[in-house]
Amino acid sequence: MERTSESDLVSLLAATRGVYKRIFGGVDPKIAVSAPGRVNLIGEHTDYNQGFVLPMALQMGTVVVGSPREDRIISIVTTAEETEEPKRVEFPVPMEGGALEPGEPRWANYVKGVIQHYEAGPLPGFSAVIASNVPLGGGLSSSASLEVATYTFLQQLRPDDGDPVTKALVCQKAEHTFAMMPCGIMDQFISVMGKEGHALLIDCRIPFRAGPTVKRLLRSLETHLVPLSDPNVVVLITNSNVRHILTGSEYPTRRRQCEEAAKVLGKASLREANMADLEASKALLSEEVYRRAKHVIGEIERTARAAEALQSKDYKIFGQLMVESHNSLRDDYEVSCPELDELVSAALEIPGVYGSRMTGGGFGGCTVTLLESGAAEKVRRHIEEKYSRTATFYLTQPSDGAKVHRLP
Ligand code: GLA
Repeated sequence: MERTSESDLVSLLAATRGVYKRIFGGVDPKIAVSAPGRVNLIGEHTDYNQGFVLPMALQMGTVVVGSPREDRIISIVTTAEETEEPKRVEFPVPMEGGALEPGEPRWANYVKGVIQHYEAGPLPGFSAVIASNVPLGGGLSSSASLEVATYTFLQQLRPDDGDPVTKALVCQKAEHTFAMMPCGIMDQFISVMGKEGHALLIDCRIPFRAGPTVKRLLRSLETHLVPLSDPNVVVLITNSNVRHILTGSEYPTRRRQCEEAAKVLGKASLREANMADLEASKALLSEEVYRRAKHVIGEIERTARAAEALQSKDYKIFGQLMVESHNSLRDDYEVSCPELDELVSAALEIPGVYGSRMTGGGFGGCTVTLLESGAAEKVRRHIEEKYSRTATFYLTQPSDGAKVHRLP
């Protein structure tokens, strides 16, 4: 079982500097940054309904090393072995009024999208190497960590006003317009704002309609740090190593169904609705849309209760809420899959496990389990025995958000 640690990222950084030096003329890079992936403890499919989420940043992340250059060319190399696409892209810095377009290779779209939407003025050219130890496409926000690492790198080239909310929103916009994924704000937010030893309760409510600029949102999106550094409990991530093809089309469908439900209920979002509102309008909703809304309204409430339970170290209650969350995602929101259900059931069979659930968008990816530290090895062995495929395990701790690394 892999026990993640900060030193993994430091080693990755050192290796990536070596790659940079080899590729870009034998000189050391001047800038090094990193941004973490995340695991969501509870609050699934609530962010785009303006509800609560409770993720933590991982010790796994994406690093970008590089230097500015004089010729107004951007040259980026990825070390990701999983991708079969070309590993290097080069394009001129977009001129004033010019626009970058998404295209091939797909990994570069996250980088291009952030460059396109970066608001702090014209950028110089640069050379950079990107590396990541977040499993790609595994539901641990490898893409948000790439976006946020890219933004952090651009901040070193041309500083912006340093506002973390703008940073998260620009990265989300990159994902919407260059990766065509209409995600919520959770992944980018936690990758920017994570804190070592803490989960982060994010209130994704936008109290007024989004204005023409992201700046208008700054008074909302409040966060609250919840300590999670008790040596007696650990967070185990289990990667199912499956990714069902549905992911792309189902996410926007769920989003639409939630908007439809809110509209029928006469609310700006499902955040404003309670179960009584939903029951009162049941006859006006299709059975499916009703169940989608039921998940979201219940999950927002569960997440608020879970944050309180974690704050008072009531892991038993927290675990129960995790299990309720999983069941609701499986039965009402229908974003789980047999592999995730198998992993959750197996984890729950072992004493010392407080709770377990699928995490992230669903249809594959990972589960997250909260358990007594001493039970971790037993749980891993039991899941390995029970799971019909091969899982990967990470024992992890909450880490900091994006960072600039000083190079010796
Ligand atoms: C994906 C999205 C997030 C969030 C989760 C589901 O990870 O990127 O914004 O909606 O799914 O909770």
